[in-house]
Amino acid sequence: MGSLSHQEFLRRVRRIPLHGLGLSVDVHAPEVASLLRSLQARQVPPGYFEVFYTEPAALRMVREQVGQRFLTYHGEGLWITQPEMTGSWAGRQELDDAITHLQILQSSWLNHECATKYLAGYSYGTYLPPLYTRAGAESVAENAWQVQTLLDQRCELVNGGTPLLLLEMPPLTYFVAGTIQIPEFFRLITERAPCGLVLDVGHLWTVFRYSGRHRTRSLEKFVQVFLDEFPLDRVVEIHVAGLAIHESWQDAASPQARPAMDSAFPAWTDAHAAPIPPVLFDMLDQILSQPRLTNLKGMALEVDMKPEELIVEEFATFDQRYLSVFRRMHVEDRESLEREAQPAREQVTSSHDKQALAEAYDRYARVVAGRAEPLGEEWSGGQACFDELDLYRSVYLPYEILHWGGDVRDMFPESCRGLTEMHVPLAEFVRFWFREPRQLVATYDFFLLKIERFVEFVREVAPTLAEVVEREAEGIRQGYRAANTPHVSTQVS
Ligand SMILES: [Fe+2]
Repeated sequence: MGSLSHQEFLRRVRRIPLHGLGLSVDVHAPEVASLLRSLQARQVPPGYFEVFYTEPAALRMVREQVGQRFLTYHGEGLWITQPEMTGSWAGRQELDDAITHLQILQSSWLNHECATKYLAGYSYGTYLPPLYTRAGAESVAENAWQVQTLLDQRCELVNGGTPLLLLEMPPLTYFVAGTIQIPEFFRLITERAPCGLVLDVGHLWTVFRYSGRHRTRSLEKFVQVFLDEFPLDRVVEIHVAGLAIHESWQDAASPQARPAMDSAFPAWTDAHAAPIPPVLFDMLDQILSQPRLTNLKGMALEVDMKPEELIVEEFATFDQRYLSVFRRMHVEDRESLEREAQPAREQVTSSHDKQALAEAYDRYARVVAGRAEPLGEEWSGGQACFDELDLYRSVYLPYEILHWGGDVRDMFPESCRGLTEMHVPLAEFVRFWFREPRQLVATYDFFLLKIERFVEFVREVAPTLAEVVEREAEGIRQGYRAANTPHVSTQVS
């Protein structure tokens, strides 16, 4: 017996076949057909590929290329942490896109980061973690129920089931804001919603760093304390990816980053193109030894943007070390797994004040953008840690707006030259970006947003460059549309 949401989770997860060891990829880099050929030549074919959000035509192409192999879906744009999302998703383009993508891939799950790039009207290129509060968890749970209900209604798979929503522990973070611990946050979500979870080992390592816990305990102790509270019986997939010092911190022109760079403890963040450090496999061994990990269906290396030879090398090692994990699971008695399920819980109706949570997220957005100071209970409780907040504000965030996912100097060379001649520093664009909240009017695409905002910025600060910036913008948009249209189809069985 268990709560309604847990029974619902178990009903869904039991339908999902074991996926085994896989690779999580962006279909554009590396090229999946070529990667699969190399893995087959090395005699380590993956059990599945998890594919990141992209155009339907590219997903169809991958579906053809991999034959009968499992494909799963890593979504984007469903900002599930945000209270304003509740009740407004039915007609949203993002959910329609996700359903289309899930059906093309015939994916058993919809994995989405429990994080956001769109916060209280402010847009970011990379994810921000949720506010770790009880109300924040209740809001995620409501959204998760809503997404799962819509998937059940509108996304039937060929095998008769519907994809299970999985929420992944947030990536690439520099601070913790909230009043409860991260594992408790996920426990509250799973008590109220039938979703599964993705435990990302590299993300967990970064929590050890940015939460400041590395100063007071060993990694092994930190992991054990975390896992003891985390709802491991909801973990359906595990991710392992590379870690590295972020490129913005390596910039010699960033003196603020020096303390982090010089530290004996590496200031790594999630970096899918970087080699996977061995410490993550020590952590994975510890995770796999936990008896409550009863519903694991797949483990994937996240390798988007990584050189193909390195992927094959890392996957061969991964395969050798962990293939037996799934062989064991295959013969385990399902009844014994069920006996280990969660104890009975009451279904809790969320009672939080949505307006108060929306205001807390608005404060949060302004704090991380450097427009407000980190004050209030989310920033002052024992759980909060913002040692790296200034680094995020002064190095990471400007880098994201000016360089990440499209360098504005490369995108708009003529406009930037004109701005330099007029003594307008590009740092002004960062201030312009976060000057006021803006409602999204289209599917979230940071690159297209960057083009749109830069045109507005130039028109405001240098009206004489309006024609130049419009012309440059149109050229980029055309190139972007062309680049997102796949041309090649090669079947690999
Ligand atoms: Fe991940």
